[in-house]
Amino acid sequence: MPLAVPSVPGAVPVLGHTRMLSRKPMDFLSSLTSGPDLVKIRLGPHPVVIICNPDLTQQMLSDSRTFDKGGPLVDLVAPLVGEGLATCPLSKHKPARQLFQPIFNRGMAAAHANRFPSAVAKVTAGWRDGLVLDMPVEARRLTIQVAVDTLFADVFSEQEVDQIADDLTSWQVGAAQRMSRPPVFDLLPTPTNRRFDVGLKRVRQTVTEAITRHRRSGREKVGVLGALLSPEGERIPWFNTPTLVDHAMTFLIAPTATVSTVLCWIWHELAQRSELQARLQTEVDTVLGGEAPTFEHLPELELTKRIVTEALRLYPSIHFAPLRTVTTDTRLGEYDLPAGTVVAYSPYIIHRRHDLYENPELFDPDRWLGAKLPMPSRHAFIPFGHGTRQCIAGEYAFNEAVLTVAAIASHWRLESVAGTPLPTRGSVNLTPRGLRLQVSRRISFDETTDAGQPHGTEGGRQRPTQSKAWLI
Ligand code: HEM
Repeated sequence: MPLAVPSVPGAVPVLGHTRMLSRKPMDFLSSLTSGPDLVKIRLGPHPVVIICNPDLTQQMLSDSRTFDKGGPLVDLVAPLVGEGLATCPLSKHKPARQLFQPIFNRGMAAAHANRFPSAVAKVTAGWRDGLVLDMPVEARRLTIQVAVDTLFADVFSEQEVDQIADDLTSWQVGAAQRMSRPPVFDLLPTPTNRRFDVGLKRVRQTVTEAITRHRRSGREKVGVLGALLSPEGERIPWFNTPTLVDHAMTFLIAPTATVSTVLCWIWHELAQRSELQARLQTEVDTVLGGEAPTFEHLPELELTKRIVTEALRLYPSIHFAPLRTVTTDTRLGEYDLPAGTVVAYSPYIIHRRHDLYENPELFDPDRWLGAKLPMPSRHAFIPFGHGTRQCIAGEYAFNEAVLTVAAIASHWRLESVAGTPLPTRGSVNLTPRGLRLQVSRRISFDETTDAGQPHGTEGGRQRPTQSKAWLI
């Protein structure tokens, strides 16, 4: 006899559980770690079933035919990324995945990894001793620079990169609001709504122009645009200009929104734990000896890798993913799910279960001593999802985070700023809203040589997003 999926108490009229999920996402999701396998909540008018059990999560993620992309989050991001790789239905997924897969194959890992530190240095070149940084803003600039340098073969100018970073930030702030209020408010002419609309239009326009430019240029076609404009891409029947923009946008927002939040949480934890930060500095000093990190250093950056793994466990960027819709009546565990049911999974819930982890709430990189990183356990560790729709760039993202943390730790110390609270916001990603940290230059190496900084960036770039700290 199938069971009825129990509802989580606390829904309020109109909004349902939306406000709890956006205002206190960690408390809300933590409360579901030891309850029933499936629970039902309401996001505004939409009922959503959340899978809280690791086996059922694997079962759902392994069956992308019965659980296809769809649901309120897919609808929310559709104007930005349309039917890009992360949001397209299964019927359009395989050819697109095959098109982009070679960019992230093992053979490309070293080439990407060796470009990360110079992209990071373009941003940190603007840091000065004692500067207080708005970390979500800074991390976003950093990760967009990395994405552009590694995946877009320099098709964007410096100004365009800054504008894209700003526009994506405006979009994310607006998206967070849209997730936690009735849609009628989206139509009001508020500053956030205006910036959301302008940012969305402008960023898609910027990308459309870059595609046109790249198509006309005689330059070698590599990276994401190279794949889109390749003969294989041209042969995909539904690839028209808006679809190309959907895919390109996906490869701008996906790396930016995710890696940036993981970096923020790592820096937050390091700033709280001076002993751990000192151990990290000892490791990077020993392994790098003042040089910029490269792919070859990765095996030796053991503690750095454990820190990144622990951050991916405790603060998975995609913490709550209402991204699937049931295509045909099915059963999951002891529950019947009719076609049309919206289903969410949550790496956050799985990663904080007491039956899977000892002291799950504790940030303890040493719990991974001796583990096989970056994927220690497919069952209990799912920051990149699982199955055919799993992250295409898991290894890229892991290496990016490791090498960025190493590059920064070898030159900078990050410290908390007294009196700055940390209100977490749950929107599309788990963001440490308002995280401000002070950076100070380390003096363990001859800093007068600016080791690790690429030539030509010593003065640092202008910081257009810095004045918009209030945005996030
Ligand atoms: C820490 C960083 C990252 C995390 C935690 C993360 C997490 C995820 C997760 C959980 C999914 C699966 C979503 C689902 O089940 O529907 C996903 C998919 C995806 N991710 Fe990532 N991601 C990260 C970084 C990146 C980066 C750096 C890129 C691009 C360079 C990227 C591109 C994508 C794409 C294109 C998909 C869709 C894959 C498909 O459906 O075939 N992600 N990511």
